[in-house]
Amino acid sequence: MTGKVCIVTGGTSGIGKAASLALAQMGATTVVVGRNRDKGIAALREIKEKSGNDSVFLMPCDLSSQSLVRQLAKDLLDRFDRIDVLLNNAGIFTMKRTVTPDGIESTFAVNHLAPFLLTRLLLDRLNASAPARIVNTSSVAHKGAKINFDDIQGEKHYSGIRAYGQSKLANILFTYELARRLQGTGVTANCYHPGVIRTELGQDNPWIYRLILAIIRPFFKAPEEGADAAVYLASSSEVQGQTGKYFVGRRPVNSSKISYDETVAKRLWELSEDLVHLQ
Ligand SMILES: NC(=O)c1ccc[n+]([C@@H]2O[C@H](COP(=O)([O-])OP(=O)(O)OC[C@H]3O[C@@H](n4cnc5c(N)ncnc54)[C@H](OP(=O)(O)O)[C@@H]3O)[C@@H](O)[C@H]2O)c1
Repeated sequence: MTGKVCIVTGGTSGIGKAASLALAQMGATTVVVGRNRDKGIAALREIKEKSGNDSVFLMPCDLSSQSLVRQLAKDLLDRFDRIDVLLNNAGIFTMKRTVTPDGIESTFAVNHLAPFLLTRLLLDRLNASAPARIVNTSSVAHKGAKINFDDIQGEKHYSGIRAYGQSKLANILFTYELARRLQGTGVTANCYHPGVIRTELGQDNPWIYRLILAIIRPFFKAPEEGADAAVYLASSSEVQGQTGKYFVGRRPVNSSKISYDETVAKRLWELSEDLVHLQ
């Protein structure tokens, strides 16, 4: 991976941090995007120390704000003349409905709209760097979910579990639609479920939720195991040219039936364009 530039959103903790470290250890120039600057600085120091790679950079950005996503894309384009890998990994799970500075429900904004917007803004540079790879972190939680176009932001009724499942289904619909639109460009788009992983996901939920999590947490896998599929999809020659697939671990598997519905994917794409003000 030496000479390649990899961007990892949510690279300051959990799966993203483990993936950033692995990519840095492979020699890649690694750009860590995270919301919390202090946490980012600590992660950066750790990744540099453990990998012995000095080409690791921190780009703090709160992805819940579309103007900050646009600023991040501009900074990345100004700073890096190539982008070989974009790992859209940052995500949240919140039981309480909150809205972003743009007035959009946070789960939908951070988990789906932010990667949608960032990818679109970086696409020309990814194309110019082809062969390049886009990897999206989804989840098995997409199973049983649907895109509720009548109430996509949970304004009438919000459930954290439903919002999370919907956002992870959106990740897959976006990946497949992107792969269709990128056919022949040399840029691939795949997504994956990392497993059930011991991370900070959902840690700011109410105490009862955290208590349950604390009890079952020891049975979860380590972040490195969760990152394995991401790093594989980002770097392995075994998946060179493969696109439009959903992986669990290193194996391509079927995602839910609705995730293959091209009408739903197109509708979601157009709605997302409207919400992030893209043509
Ligand atoms: N853990 C699991 O079992 C599991 C299973 C399936 C899928 N996933 C998916 O894996 C991905 C990574 O989650 P994780 O489990 O590693 O959780 P995590 O430890 O909480 O990491 C989440 C990362 O996303 C970043 N992030 C969250 N909101 C952000 C925002 N508004 N702007 C910028 N960065 C933001 C966090 O940055 P800060 O720390 O700076 O806030 C952090 O680096 C998520 O997409 C999640 O849905 C996780």
